[in-house]
Amino acid sequence: MRKPIIAGNWKMNKTAKEAVELIEALKPLVAKAKPEVVVCVPYTDLWAVADAIKGSKIRLGAENVAWADKGAFTGEISAEMLKEIGVEYVIIGHSERRQYFGETDASVNARTKQALANGLKPIVCVGETLEEREKNKTNRVLKKQVLEGLAGITDFTDVVIAYEPVWAIGTGKTATAEDANKTIGFIRRTIKANFGEDVAKALRIQYGGSMNPKNVKELMAERNIDGGLIGGASLKAEDFACIVNYKD
Ligand code: 13P
Repeated sequence: MRKPIIAGNWKMNKTAKEAVELIEALKPLVAKAKPEVVVCVPYTDLWAVADAIKGSKIRLGAENVAWADKGAFTGEISAEMLKEIGVEYVIIGHSERRQYFGETDASVNARTKQALANGLKPIVCVGETLEEREKNKTNRVLKKQVLEGLAGITDFTDVVIAYEPVWAIGTGKTATAEDANKTIGFIRRTIKANFGEDVAKALRIQYGGSMNPKNVKELMAERNIDGGLIGGASLKAEDFACIVNYKD
């Protein structure tokens, strides 16, 4: 009953010109996609990509959004600015934002609320570091990220969670499908205990971290995994299309 969602996170890659080339290559390859397909692209690519995806199945996402409406926040981009371009999804709290740019669970919460208040669909990222995993702190870390990041949210219809173990991002190391399913199961139980069973049943939770054409089938076969947030493999049209079309 949960529609799978495969989203590319381009991170800081592709100029606007390169972005259009990638979208043009991707369009025919995902024309019959069964899951929801999203590309989250750098701010500078948004206008060009919005234009290039017209008439296709591809939905547009950004990689962050400001928590304030407008004003003196140099370098930030508001929800209204994104909406005007046709952005539908927005990644919030990616581990790279947490690691390099001081993003906290509190800022994730503020951005998520702002996204929802403006009709944007947040993809809220959570995940443990290798050190936390080795110290058996995974569940504790995830519980805190989920509860603080989503505190005060009452309508989860448009919310997506991405579970991205930090040690699996860009490393070629993937969590085993079984392990990812178990951890996402824990996230779902946390959601159930705090936001109710209906929310937990309907909420889509993606896996992210070195997902690729080779491992996608196994990961997507797991009960709790509703999609993927794809970094490196989303930068090649063929690879991303293979992931999108994992069922074929
Ligand atoms: P990779 O797929 O390159 O490991 O990146 C995952 C990610 O961070 C997606 O947000």
